[in-house]
Amino acid sequence: MTVKTKIKQLSDLLEEYNYQYYVLDNPSVPDGEYDRIFQQLLKLEQDNPELLSPNSPTQKVGGTALTKFEQVTHQQPMLSLDNVFEQQSLVDFMQRAQDKSSQPEIAFCVEPKLDGLAASIIYQNGELIQAATRGDGQVGENVTENVKTIANLPLKLRGENIPPLLEVRGEVFMLIDGFNKLNDNLIKANEKPFVNPRNAAAGSLRQLDSKIAAKRPLAFYCYAVGVFEGELANSQYERMQQLKGWGLPISTEVKRVIGSENCQAYYQNIQDKRPNLGYAIDGVVYKVDDIALQQTLGFVARAPRWATAYKFPAEEAVTEVENVEFQVGRTGAITPVAKLKPIFVGGVTVSNATLHNKDEIERLDIRIGDQVVVRRAGDVIPQVARVLLERRDTEKVKSIEFPSRCPVCGSNVERIEGEAIIRCAGGLYCEAQRKEAIKHFASRKALDIDGLGNKLVEQLVDQKLIADPAQLFSLTAHQLSSLPRMGDVSAKKLIHSLQTSKKTTLARFLYSLGIREVGEATANNLAVHFKTIEAIEKASVDDLKTVSDVGEIVAKHIYYFFRQEHNIEVVARLIEAGIHWPALEEKQEEEQPLLGQTFVITGSFSNMSRTDIKTALQALGAKVAGSVSKKTSTVIAGEAAGSKLTKAEELGVAIMDEEALLALLDKQ
Ligand code: IVH
Repeated sequence: MTVKTKIKQLSDLLEEYNYQYYVLDNPSVPDGEYDRIFQQLLKLEQDNPELLSPNSPTQKVGGTALTKFEQVTHQQPMLSLDNVFEQQSLVDFMQRAQDKSSQPEIAFCVEPKLDGLAASIIYQNGELIQAATRGDGQVGENVTENVKTIANLPLKLRGENIPPLLEVRGEVFMLIDGFNKLNDNLIKANEKPFVNPRNAAAGSLRQLDSKIAAKRPLAFYCYAVGVFEGELANSQYERMQQLKGWGLPISTEVKRVIGSENCQAYYQNIQDKRPNLGYAIDGVVYKVDDIALQQTLGFVARAPRWATAYKFPAEEAVTEVENVEFQVGRTGAITPVAKLKPIFVGGVTVSNATLHNKDEIERLDIRIGDQVVVRRAGDVIPQVARVLLERRDTEKVKSIEFPSRCPVCGSNVERIEGEAIIRCAGGLYCEAQRKEAIKHFASRKALDIDGLGNKLVEQLVDQKLIADPAQLFSLTAHQLSSLPRMGDVSAKKLIHSLQTSKKTTLARFLYSLGIREVGEATANNLAVHFKTIEAIEKASVDDLKTVSDVGEIVAKHIYYFFRQEHNIEVVARLIEAGIHWPALEEKQEEEQPLLGQTFVITGSFSNMSRTDIKTALQALGAKVAGSVSKKTSTVIAGEAAGSKLTKAEELGVAIMDEEALLALLDKQ
């Protein structure tokens, strides 16, 4: 075999592996094997430089650095998109398109709006010959060398009927994992990190040295065709499938949908998937599917009338810190909370953001009166992302003073060495701690008292109707119905749910007491180990430490909790009030058949709550984790299980449905 043939053979093989890996998401050889062939090809090319093709798979690592980027005039202008921010505007957009059509209901090709930067890539006879940024839409920069290093982008097209000329347009973006790693490295090297994955992608694409760009975790998805010669399908969706067929990457979420209801459902679906996609998106794009109809609709100014972007609510916004207040939590921890000028962010109006502790305040260098960037992503509580120091009015801002006494009860404040937080020393003398303790007692994973919300607990304590959880059970319907916004019916309902909540488990009861550091899992371990509340009350620190997951600190918290007169008394009164649980059998530790196994629970269940499933599995010795990894033994998948189930399937982790779970629990 000639060297030339050998080079062709190795190149073809690597292209096939790239395609399997990046486009089909289904690699057939281990990474090591790919590397071996890659090195073999590299060596042959180095020894025979005249045989090196500009689109060899080895060219994905970058080449010689440029001194500047050349300009490129786009043969067809690169347009932008109109935005809508609410369902009605989307319906209007669809109606305008519908009005121009003779079809009863027109189809839309829909996909996520990627948060990166647009690029145009030209293939001639299947070979990548040029890549350019969007620039001002007319003229961009020639970034061919950098674009060629993008891992999932083929340098040669594959398959049948490849058009002699094909310009694809799409988004260059950075994967979030890679972005985080890149920033970690920049920080370690004392360099400035990027603000977000989009800036990082833009910075990487504009590197004059393509070897640097090659090291950046960039990716590309096609979303449109620009100029081309030859025949293409006359549907947007089918064109995307054609691109995929030629080995070009398209989003896994491209769909064709009909009607505004389905379009809305798609938006919801993508919004739900957003945190798990692995890359940043900022909305959904809807495109009229029929290319002929696209042409009829045409353009206005710089945007097509046949496409629109439905943007997600912005996750970051700028507002002012009006004040900082201190909140006292269940365990006395005093948390600084920024009171903000109300601002619409992440789909809701936000007026508070936690500042966590003193360290965080120092890290942010935040003062009262500062302009700040507030971030609310998904259901995560709002955070202050950064302070706009350049906008600070030094005359006006005030620094944040930590209180030396509890802002609620006036007790001393203690700062434990090595901890960033300060605490009110008042314990249950402090009204704030009392309220939080009762809220915790009533919460879903504790006694699960239906109808006893946070507001109501606050009213009950403020009105001096109760001062501890045990007194809840002496409340009368008459007392309750005298409270504002509380009718006879709700009062009776609450009395009823107080009654039913009395039947519980030892684990839930222990958890409900709100002992510091005793979460569900620890409460469960304690219950399994000690079997009775009396045994736990009597246990020494050493006894407690024999329980799995209980170390010195937790053991001491439990020990001291039961050395306080008040706590012992409340426990006694709770039991007197009728709280009870089934006796736990004297089971040996060895009888934990699921010891050493890790379960993940996902989806919804009809016969048991997720908390109960968790408790049941833990009682059998299993660990219950929040995310699926190779270490997961089994995933319990209920109705409408999502990404965790997919991940389990990908990793080949065992999957169990509700029926199988019930059978397993039954057997034990
Ligand atoms: S289509 C003529 N589809 O959004 C239609 N654009 O605001 C051209 N973008 O510059 C764009 N994801 O960088 C389209 N799935 C997607 C997109 C997308 C992101 C960007 C693109 C464009 C900008 C327009």
